[in-house]
Amino acid sequence: MNVEVETMVNGKLVHASVPARLHVADFLRQHLGLTGTHVGCEQGSCGMCTVMVDGEAVKSCLMLACQLDGRHVRTVESLAEDDRLSPLQQAFKEEHALQCGFCSPGFLMTATALAYQGKRPCRAEIREEIAGVLCRCTGYENVVTAIERWFAEHPQGAREDETADGARTA
Ligand code: FES
Ligand code: FES
Repeated sequence: MNVEVETMVNGKLVHASVPARLHVADFLRQHLGLTGTHVGCEQGSCGMCTVMVDGEAVKSCLMLACQLDGRHVRTVESLAEDDRLSPLQQAFKEEHALQCGFCSPGFLMTATALAYQGKRPCRAEIREEIAGVLCRCTGYENVVTAIERWFAEHPQGAREDETADGARTA
């Protein structure tokens, strides 16, 4: 059985007819071609698939695509502008927070959601907040440093490019 869905994805309105059992990660990857959202466990354990839905970090393998109706989604594809990395991505690059990179979209969108919510986490809080993303390369120190630096360098709460519908404002 298919269900009609109308949702904003990275600032663009999307209409789709989706199988009722399709989860958001597969919807993004297979229906919209947004393969930056990675899928690891499909059981809610690894956090690789984290995206932002209405400002909250959500494990997209645990949410059905039909539940996106009327909601706003942001994926990692919304961060860079053409070839220009976002400040958060740049911080990951400069702090060597990218190893194989498979988990990186999960970390990036978790941090983006924190900023969107106006949080200014300290290092210990960042560590706690990103605990839902399991990095197989175990590179947490540099990830924490990159996110900490991003917040420090963006005293407005790193919100300069965060809006509810994924459109960039700066
Ligand atoms: S793929 Fe969603 S939590 Fe692992
Ligand atoms: S960088 Fe390889 S899984 Fe995290």
